Amino acid sequence: MTRFVLALTLCLAGGGIAWAAHDWQGRDLAAGQILYAEHCAACHGANLEGAPDWRTPNGDGSFPAPPHDASGHTWHHDNALLFDYTKMGGEALLAARGITGVKSGMPGFADSLSDDDIWNVLAYIRSTWPQRIKDLQEARNPPH
Ligand code: HEC
Repeated sequence: MTRFVLALTLCLAGGGIAWAAHDWQGRDLAAGQILYAEHCAACHGANLEGAPDWRTPNGDGSFPAPPHDASGHTWHHDNALLFDYTKMGGEALLAARGITGVKSGMPGFADSLSDDDIWNVLAYIRSTWPQRIKDLQEARNPPH
């Protein structure tokens, strides 16, 4: 019985990893890097280092752009949230979850980037992470 449960658990975990990895398969990292430079670098930093003092709130209560490298918290989120955050922007995403009145400096890219563009940018960001961080982020994705 223990063996069976273990096998089942591993199987579910394996499924989750396969599903998470699926979002990154076949992505165009070179295109993602160019899109990043054009659309994201001004706020998140040319080297994904984030804005200076990104932990200190701005006067209006919003926050400066955090890094997308391993020192930030981008990798704390699952693929779906990263995608929705980029597509909808901070305020629309929070509003969709019933949280209003929060100031966010993160614009939505639904009008300027296609879904494939967004996945390519996110795949480029992910490609800069060490394997350990990639594994931790993959584990954030719900099993499928
Ligand atoms: C005008 C500045 C600006 C631009 C341009 C911008 N961002 Fe952001 N972004 C922010 C700010 C500020 C935050 C911090 C969270 C908030 O205030 O909602 C953020 C947060 C995020 C988050 C959530 C990260 C986390 O750890 O919570 C993601 C993902 C993200 N941005 C992706 C992108 C991508 C991809 C691009 C380019 C396509 C981009 N951003 C362009 C300002 C910007």
